[in-house]
Amino acid sequence: MNEGQSDRGIQDIQTLVRYYLRAVILPGDIVVDATAGRGKDTLFLARCVGASGRVFSFDIQDEAILSTRELLKEYGLSARVELVNTCHSEMAKYIPIEKIKAIVFNLGYLPGSESKVATQAQTTVKALTEALKLLKETGVMVITVYRGHDGALEESEAITNFLSRLPKKEFSVLQGIYLNQGEQSPYWLMIQKNRGKTNESPPAKKNSGTDNQ
Ligand SMILES: C[S@@+](CC[C@H](N)C(=O)[O-])C[C@H]1O[C@@H](n2cnc3c(N)ncnc32)[C@H](O)[C@@H]1O
Repeated sequence: MNEGQSDRGIQDIQTLVRYYLRAVILPGDIVVDATAGRGKDTLFLARCVGASGRVFSFDIQDEAILSTRELLKEYGLSARVELVNTCHSEMAKYIPIEKIKAIVFNLGYLPGSESKVATQAQTTVKALTEALKLLKETGVMVITVYRGHDGALEESEAITNFLSRLPKKEFSVLQGIYLNQGEQSPYWLMIQKNRGKTNESPPAKKNSGTDNQ
């Protein structure tokens, strides 16, 4: 088992997400952590991109930026990460290129903090809008949605409304949800910027004699 990988299987909401991110992020890639928090995701991403890659990591709280900085220092990975102490809805101002391979949002509160600052519907949807523009073709965005904090249900609904309207030719949107853990359990969403192809079946050939409508 790799470091940072859970031994709880899919009981851990991050397990499948991380499998996928490990598979798609290559050494040298540029990626974004939109919610640095205690730095676990930033550390994970810094490992995925390797020494030639780059991670842009955002958080609105000083406490989160400090925690993340400390964690990166502990693992000797500070050089490949740019920490930005600002709202993730402003990310486009700090990332000069539209070639981002992966963007991770882990919504909600800063774990283990007294602070009640949590992600909110309006800024989250604005950040998602900006993030999708920055993704390169075949790039992926992963959002883990928690539904326990104040405003979480409104945030969850706003995200669903926004993502379910994305054109399927341009984006594929997938959801991973626990069916047996109640309405407030966390879930993930994965969005890929497509290569411009659809998932639709090809049109039926004329006079083929088969019924594939
Ligand atoms: C669940 S935590 C993130 C966990 C983190 N990825 C980790 O590995 O520890 C959510 C974080 O989002 C941050 N946050 C809340 N609103 C934000 C905003 N508008 N822009 C950037 N970060 C925000 C909070 O400060 C908190 O640290």
